[in-house]
Amino acid sequence: MTDADPTHDVVVWGATGVAGRFTAEYLVERHAPDDLSLAVGGRSREKLDALVDDLTRRSDGWDGVPVVVGDATDPESLRTIAHDARVVCTTVGPYTRYGSPLVEACVETGTDYCDLTGEVNWARETIDRFHEAAVDAGARIVHSCGFDSVPADLGTLIVQSFAAEAFDAPCKTVRIYLDDGSGSVSGGTLASFGELFEAAATDPIARETLRNPYSLAPSGERSGVDPGTQRWPRTDPLCGGWTAPSPMAPVNERVVRRSNALLGYPWGREFRCTEVVPTGEGVRGAAAAGLVAGGLGAFTAAMSVGPLRSALRRYAFPDPGEGPTREEAEAGHFRIRVLGRGTAADGSFTVEAEFGANRDPGYGATARMLGESATCLARDEVDSPFDGGVLTPASGIGLPLAERLREVGFTASVDEAAGGGR
Ligand SMILES: NC(=O)c1ccc[n+]([C@@H]2O[C@H](COP(=O)([O-])OP(=O)(O)OC[C@H]3O[C@@H](n4cnc5c(N)ncnc54)[C@H](OP(=O)(O)O)[C@@H]3O)[C@@H](O)[C@H]2O)c1
Repeated sequence: MTDADPTHDVVVWGATGVAGRFTAEYLVERHAPDDLSLAVGGRSREKLDALVDDLTRRSDGWDGVPVVVGDATDPESLRTIAHDARVVCTTVGPYTRYGSPLVEACVETGTDYCDLTGEVNWARETIDRFHEAAVDAGARIVHSCGFDSVPADLGTLIVQSFAAEAFDAPCKTVRIYLDDGSGSVSGGTLASFGELFEAAATDPIARETLRNPYSLAPSGERSGVDPGTQRWPRTDPLCGGWTAPSPMAPVNERVVRRSNALLGYPWGREFRCTEVVPTGEGVRGAAAAGLVAGGLGAFTAAMSVGPLRSALRRYAFPDPGEGPTREEAEAGHFRIRVLGRGTAADGSFTVEAEFGANRDPGYGATARMLGESATCLARDEVDSPFDGGVLTPASGIGLPLAERLREVGFTASVDEAAGGGR
């Protein structure tokens, strides 16, 4: 955290893009101007001025949100923006291409930071380059504060906190089920996918990061018993029925493992975490799991071949800046279930959490998850042992984020599961 009193509590950097705009709109609707000092940032003053006009029209009392202008490729401008902010909340992606200079500026100025990255190769880079310096500077750099990976990471924390309190033991296994959801995808998100596959094709460290289930753990601790992401249809060991691989598992599982490692292994070094898509029982469940796995495999294969990847990016994907309308972002929904299984002194137990919202997971819901993450950091409303470092939502912010999300309509509930074996 910065020592001096910064000019802005929160700067939404990238506010002219799809996710940034929804985040700025959400923060303006949620807060009165004397409750949170907000600024919007980007590279185009003209676009930012138009955004501010729109924010003023649609809100009560916000007549003129301050604008900060810079460029992701101009470190001096980023240092000024970071220096004047308590928290920089950034949606300028792909992060692999644009993200590092801003993290560096926040570390240099001791400014807190949160983002929406799902680019694990880049998260690994910032851990290796900036974690120690961020600890020294007291800068909390919290990655993946959107649909990647708040539901999985906080859902796991909620399950583990309940298990610790009710059973005095952690869950050794956590399974995250993407039960239900409907939403959209923006050009910016697909561009970030493109960067991830590009990096995997050209950079051996990125390839190793995508291969090793523990690649986001602290350096020196990048191995363990967890075999990592499920790739094929399988029957589920906890619930029965069929499951397919989850497209977000490669990010979410690694983030959860990093949370466990950063927090000092409260869930044990043998802790295992898997995220899957449940598809139902019997032949129909197996067929549906095959379809999901086949579709995901085909997309991954196509994105792994250079010319096909270029063709998809050029002709099939929407351009950066294109994405859902406000109405679409406010529609949609998602629901995940987190099942944790552990063993206490008097037998085994199962804990079940549910996490969800009635908004597009990647946009309406993500704007709230990112906006509330930034608010928690700005107000120091966190349950975390860390004043600085490259952190995860669970380790850097913790349960206060779940509390804030409940207040704005999210489900974040937990209980002992029926038939839990006790
Ligand atoms: N985790 C999740 O659930 C989740 C959900 C949604 C999005 N995301 C991620 O969030 C990121 C943004 O997605 P999006 O759809 O909002 O993308 P977008 O619409 O393309 O927005 C990108 C933003 O970056 C700005 N920008 C680009 N180059 C810049 C530069 N050199 N200097 C300063 N600003 C620059 C753009 O400014 P201009 O307007 O001037 O072009 C725009 O404001 C992506 O990485 C995406 O994967 C994650």
